[in-house]
Order: sequence, then C-alpha cells, then structure tokens
Amino acid sequence: MKIKKAIIPAAGLGTRVLPASKAIPKEMLPIVDKPAIQYIVEEAVASGITDILIITNRGKGVIEDHFDHSLELENMMKARNNFEMLSELESVANLANIYFLRQKETKGLGDAVLKTESFVGNEPFAVLYGDDVIIGEPPATKELADAYEKYGKGVVGIKEVPDELIVKYSSLKVEKKEDFIYDVTDMIEKPAVANKFSNFSVLGRCILTPDIFDILRNTPLGVGNELQLTDAMKTLARRDGMIGVDFKATRYDMGNKFGIIKANVETALAHKEIGEETRKYIKELAKTL
Ligand code: UTP
Repeated sequence: MKIKKAIIPAAGLGTRVLPASKAIPKEMLPIVDKPAIQYIVEEAVASGITDILIITNRGKGVIEDHFDHSLELENMMKARNNFEMLSELESVANLANIYFLRQKETKGLGDAVLKTESFVGNEPFAVLYGDDVIIGEPPATKELADAYEKYGKGVVGIKEVPDELIVKYSSLKVEKKEDFIYDVTDMIEKPAVANKFSNFSVLGRCILTPDIFDILRNTPLGVGNELQLTDAMKTLARRDGMIGVDFKATRYDMGNKFGIIKANVETALAHKEIGEETRKYIKELAKTL
C-alpha cells in the first residue's frame, strides 16, 4: 500500500536552541533561504505524500502563515515582473494538502502522534520529525515508504551515531537483512552507554501502522515524564519486528546549535545563487583559523 499521509510534529519547546526559538518556532529557523520545515514538507511531497498534518502549539501560527498564500507579496512580485519569486511563493502554498492541529500541552512526541488518529484513519502513515531536516537523494521518506511496501512492517530511518549521541537519542537492536536494511527487534530511548543495543539510532523518520495508537494508549510515560514514541515503537518492534532503513540523504538536527550551522554551511555551498561565493569565503576564512 502506498503511503499518502504524513505527520510532522512541530509542537516541542525547542529549549536547546533558545533564545532563537523563544518567539520563532525552531522549525521556522532558516536554512539559507527557506525555513527548516519547508525542506521537510518538500521531502514528503517528493516521496509521494499528498496529505500532511503539522502538529503545532501556541505561538507557532507563523508555520500556518508560511504555507498559506501571501497575496500582498504575490501581487508585489507580479507588479515587479519578478515571476521567478512569484512562482516560488505560489508553489510553497500549493505543495500539498496541509492541515494543522494543536497539541494543547507539550506531553511528548508520542502524545503528539496520538492526537493524529482521526486524520490517519485506517492506513499506514509517515512521521517526519519537525526538527530533523534530511536533504539529498533519494528522499529519505521515499526510501522508508519503499521498504514498507516491500516488507509490510513499520519502518524506522536509522543511522549509526557515536556514544555521546546514543545517550541523547535511542539505541536499536538490529540484524542486517540486506544492504542498508535491518531487522529491528528492540529499542531503548536515551540509554546509558552500558545499556545500548548498538550505535544505530532512530533519526527523524518512520512509517507506522494505525495499531500504534492502541499501543500508545497503553504506554506509560517515559523519559522526561513524556509519552515517548520510541517506547511505543519498542512494543511494536518486540511484537511484530520493524524494519530499519539506513537512509542515504544527509540529516541535520535543527534542534541543536551546531546542527543548524552545518545545515546552513552545506546548503549554502550547494546553492545555485551563493554557492561559489560561499566556497571562496570559507576557503579564505579557513586560512585564518
Ligand atoms: P524534541 O524532544 O527534539 O523537541 O522532539 P523539543 O521538545 O522541542 O526539544 P528540546 O529538548 O526542548 O530542545 C522531537 C520532535 O517532536 C516534536 C518537536 O517539535 C520535534 O520536532 N514534539 C516534541 C512535539 O510535537 N510535541 C511534544 O510534546 C514534544
């Protein structure tokens, strides 16, 4: 079955990137000339997703504005004959069917996903974490959706990370199935290094089936007294097994300061307008370091 629906949870407090995220949602922080969440929506669309539910909360209304038409700006671009920017502005508003839902209390990623049950209905769906931007080909969600079609099981996007990150993310029990594809049979959220299964961690993307909602309802609060999606996926992995896809594109963690810098530098280097200038600048700068 093709994956047509996606959820983008973007209701976290973003405490690791304060004060930047005090009045601006971290999902709206720019990577060169687009907000982070636009890259995520574009990845979803490039992966065949047609309907996207973005989970927001108080103070995140600018995300809704961003994916809406801005008639004033569009008219101005028309008047100035700037048709390139006009079509860019129009296309942001027409990327997909985008819906919004508020998570009224920040009770964890699992709680945010649980709120989406009526949108999801009875079909498998993708979750794209709002602060994990993944840039490159093939689109990561497409790789996961292909694995879902092939194996018919829940799928997680995975990467090997060093111990200092395993304790902040999650650790997976994996067995290699084929190149870049693993069987996942257990997982643990934010483990101590002594308790890790492996250095593979879930990074920002998964495909879930609607039975995750019952599991979430029966999952106790976890790390940080929040309902953790990883805890629910652990139940699913132990019960039915899940598939891990070591995706090829590059992932940037927009939830921390260095991740934001890396995303900006690498995107600027590849940018058609400012790539060359950036390359020269970085080379000159490097000589002074
Ligand atoms: P994080 O735990 O990285 O986000 O959640 P956070 O709470 O904003 O981070 P810090 O630690 O305070 O800096 C991963 C994703 O899940 C969303 C976040 O917006 C982020 O995209 N999320 C998290 C929710 O939508 N709701 C929540 O209750 C928690």
